Amino acid sequence: MSFDPNTPNLARMYDYMLGGKDNLTVDRAAIDRLVEHIPAAVPLARANRAFLQRAVRHLAGAGVRQFLDLGSGLPTQGNVHEVVREVSPDAKVVYVDHDPVVAAHARALLEEQGKVVFVQADLLRPAELLATPEVTDFLDLSEPVGVLLVSILHFIQDAADPAGMVKVLRDAVAPGSYLVLTHAVETLGREQAEESAKKVYRGSSTGGAAGRSLAEVRAFFGDFELVEPGLVHVADWRPDHPGVIGDEPLPGYLLAGAAKKA
Ligand SMILES: C[S@@+](CC[C@H](N)C(=O)[O-])C[C@H]1O[C@@H](n2cnc3c(N)ncnc32)[C@H](O)[C@@H]1O
Repeated sequence: MSFDPNTPNLARMYDYMLGGKDNLTVDRAAIDRLVEHIPAAVPLARANRAFLQRAVRHLAGAGVRQFLDLGSGLPTQGNVHEVVREVSPDAKVVYVDHDPVVAAHARALLEEQGKVVFVQADLLRPAELLATPEVTDFLDLSEPVGVLLVSILHFIQDAADPAGMVKVLRDAVAPGSYLVLTHAVETLGREQAEESAKKVYRGSSTGGAAGRSLAEVRAFFGDFELVEPGLVHVADWRPDHPGVIGDEPLPGYLLAGAAKKA
């Protein structure tokens, strides 16, 4: 993937929705078009980020000491290693993203001696990723890992075999590991808005978005066991303050879950 300032960039678009400053006019214009069709897009992005942090805190509380954050995005407030440190100061975090813009920011801001590593890689080649020296030297794959695939799988089309990719990851990690993900669902009755929203993403660096059914999203977990409350709308997963994200309930476009390998 190369840097193109004229094409809306997925990581910068998301940064804009989270209130960050690492975005360009072209990214902001794309999000403005998205919001015309999906008015809740910005609160959903923020609910997604808040879920990521709650899930990481939960895993750290359950004893997970290594994290693989795949499709990590631009560093922002409450990065995974910062959240983990609240519970476990010695935890290790590997961030992975294929975007050179993310790589430049992440290397400057995230890498800390011995505790945090950033790897620029395509997660569609998971076996290669897991075999890179940064990962093999840093993580102990015989111990549990928290694998994070948060707001990423819906940007991967079926033709690229996201299910096969996730299976490689599930098979590679030790018992006691967790898979955490969020995923957009096809939501019924709003086809027009969804089609228009997909068009915005088709014109961006990601090349498209693919909402899936609840059953398809559940299948990404394979035989891992979902922790309570299961696969639910993102704001309903172990909320810190039930019912206070935004003034209105968020539409259920985004599912969230965490599951453990037996
Ligand atoms: C919407 S952001 C999600 C950021 C973060 N996971 C979160 O939920 O807060 C999606 C990120 O996935 C990255 N990404 C998309 N396709 C990828 C791929 N094939 N390999 C690696 N990273 C990818 C993008 O560059 C972007 O930074």
